[in-house]
Amino acid sequence: MKETEIEWGKLPFGYVKTDWNVRCEFKDGKWGEITATQDEYIPLHIAASCLHYGQEAFEGLKAFRGKDGKVRVFRMDENAKRFRSSAEGISMEPLPIEKFEEMVRMVVKLNKRFIPPYGSGASLYIRPLEIGTSAQVGVSPSKDYMVIMFATPVGPYFKGGFKPTKVCISREYDRVAPKGTGAIKIGGNYAASLNAGQKAHELGYSVMLYLDPKENKYLDECGAANFFGVKGNTYVTPNSRTVLPSITNKSLRTLAEDLGLKVEQREIPYEELSEFSETGTCGTAAVCTGIGQIDDLDKGTSFVYGMEEAGPVTTKLYHALQDIQYGDAPDNHGWCEIIELD
Ligand code: PLP
Ligand code: COI
Repeated sequence: MKETEIEWGKLPFGYVKTDWNVRCEFKDGKWGEITATQDEYIPLHIAASCLHYGQEAFEGLKAFRGKDGKVRVFRMDENAKRFRSSAEGISMEPLPIEKFEEMVRMVVKLNKRFIPPYGSGASLYIRPLEIGTSAQVGVSPSKDYMVIMFATPVGPYFKGGFKPTKVCISREYDRVAPKGTGAIKIGGNYAASLNAGQKAHELGYSVMLYLDPKENKYLDECGAANFFGVKGNTYVTPNSRTVLPSITNKSLRTLAEDLGLKVEQREIPYEELSEFSETGTCGTAAVCTGIGQIDDLDKGTSFVYGMEEAGPVTTKLYHALQDIQYGDAPDNHGWCEIIELD
């Protein structure tokens, strides 16, 4: 597709073919050179460990074009570190942080014509992934690995954009096991959540808000994003080993403190939903979106926060985050790297 044919302001969160993807392979005990290709496919052995035993991890990060024309990538060192812990969590070879960062710079630069213009509300989503590639029939880790990064321009993750979204709770589904893999970003977690996600969609909700998988007492993960609530002057978010440590949430906690809020990261009992003035969900794709209503499918009850517009704290946090990402506010915490495009 020519970039001139893209309606930047109408982009959904989806795949658009871009020019290049970059790759790096771990073979014979070492990482090789980074290569760039225009091929959207990968040659893969039919017995590769990723196909049978799910050795696959991924990441998601974004590059933003600012009013000043500069392109900023947000906190890629954090994604690089989490990519390593995801790999280690399923016995894969972790990619060195410098290689991760070099691949991000390369994939952004090579696809620069697909970085959405400032003001369109869109951004360039970078998707790193790692797979085990050795032929394997016994259940054991692969010897060889491949890391691929592609980039694709994306719009809002939720249909309504920044408008509050509606979510549901159902005790029929757990996303992950209590001592399982919830805190790492592996494909298996998402496969296991697809039925729950489909059920939520069929019933008219954007995602499922999961309770903790051990006792079903505490609020846990919100689809493919973290959960937060606002109570008085406090930003509250779960402290849970079954939640992915979101880089967006980490940033919002800092920004909340900058804005003079108190931050609490702790267990949040289900009952506390009735005490929040605002609730929201945050992630690279979700950014920072208000939750307007939470329906409990098992009890037939609802928590209503307002579907018209996000609450004042959620709105402030959303702008504080996006202003840094698009270069409209000073990057006081040193979160963005400006990518040299030429
Ligand atoms: N939780 C899950 C399950 C996710 O898939 C994501 C997305 O990456 C997040 C939380 C948010 O994490 P981050 O803000 O680092 O994108
Ligand atoms: C992200 O926010 O980057 C995600 O990975 C969410 C989802 C698209 C899996």
